[in-house]
Amino acid sequence: MTTARSTVLVTGGAGYIGSHLCVELLQAGFQVIVVDNLCNARYKSLDAVERITQKPLTFVEADIRDESALTRIFRTNDIDAVIHFAGLKAVGESTEQPALYYDNNINGTLKLIEAMQQSACRTLVFSSSATVYRSPPELPLTEDSPTGPSNPYGRSKLMIEEILRDLSAADPDWRISALRYFNPVGAHPSGEIGEDPAGPPNNLMPFISQVAVGRRTKLHIFGNDYDTHDGTGVRDYIHVVDLARGHLKALDYLAEHCGMTVHNLGTGNGYSVLDAVRAFEAASGVTIPYEVVERRPGDTAASYADVGRARDELGWCAEYDLEAMCADAWRWQSRHPEGFGVGGEDE
Ligand code: NAD
Ligand code: UD1
Repeated sequence: MTTARSTVLVTGGAGYIGSHLCVELLQAGFQVIVVDNLCNARYKSLDAVERITQKPLTFVEADIRDESALTRIFRTNDIDAVIHFAGLKAVGESTEQPALYYDNNINGTLKLIEAMQQSACRTLVFSSSATVYRSPPELPLTEDSPTGPSNPYGRSKLMIEEILRDLSAADPDWRISALRYFNPVGAHPSGEIGEDPAGPPNNLMPFISQVAVGRRTKLHIFGNDYDTHDGTGVRDYIHVVDLARGHLKALDYLAEHCGMTVHNLGTGNGYSVLDAVRAFEAASGVTIPYEVVERRPGDTAASYADVGRARDELGWCAEYDLEAMCADAWRWQSRHPEGFGVGGEDE
């Protein structure tokens, strides 16, 4: 049973979404242990989490596939729940190196399950993705919409959901929540933590931010001939702080319910690429130069969530609008032009 003084293990907690979750957990009174191998994050994000919250957390640098490291964590701590972010997430890279993705994401999850089974902890929140849905989608996407991911990354997420479903069917003591994120963007309003992609960003918002701060010359818009209100792709962007808070609601829900549940976490609103560009320009006061290029293979015209189940069952709704997402992303990016790498106030 998780309550506000419980201990939560956050795998991948140094990353973009995980660091925002750690802030919310610490502020809600949880004890937090992060395990992360830092393959796509820096320890500085956790320093910043402690600065924002003025509370300590425990960090273990380890790969979740390292059985002895995981066993040690569970043996030496009384862990009430696990929130599982650790995974690789680049769609293109997953197509080039599928074995790497299946090993990291699926084997990593299996090792985690094994370590949990050796302990008393049976409460798990898993980072799934709207990428598990079949494309082109019937909109809005409900949790019962057909699945059918189109790349190894997405398939690894769906396979993990299936593994977790089998696990909960075999042992009714498990309490599992799979949260299907739509498009997480923005940053903590403090400007201390935010998205810090390694190399050129694959996703829209971090690319726009890097153009705004002068790290890239212009945005390439992948197609303006889609069947959408202005021809550019439409997505359900959700503020990362809203997303993080959804995990606390999932923990509350699991405290009352056994079995496995699946919830969409989005706002239910769709915004186009041009809507996002205009909102970012308004928030930053910077003009974003762009050029329309070919469609990106694998992209769909529009995707947005039906958020009714999360509202009704978790009592959760996103609160921040696109304006706040852009303002907070800009505060982070303008204060830390090179992310956690070079420059920024904390150097
Ligand atoms: P991120 O890369 O910033 O965070 C993932 C963290 O996991 C990183 O800190 C990385 O170092 C760590 N990690 C990876 N493999 C590990 C391993 N084997 N052992 C220990 N640590 C490991 O990504 P994020 O955007 O914060 O995403 C978090 C989770 O949410 C991921 O599982 C991702 O697939 C999922 N997700 C993200 C998005 C998105 O758009 N950001 C959308 C849907 C789902
Ligand atoms: C992408 C991934 C998806 C993953 C999600 C969140 C692909 C095909 N899909 O989805 O699996 O779950 O990120 O990590 O990679 N755009 C531009 N220029 C850019 C970047 C994006 O025009 O430089 C457009 C895209 O065509 C799309 C929209 O912006 O219409 C959003 O793109 P992105 O942020 O990559 O998210 P998704 O396409 O939803």
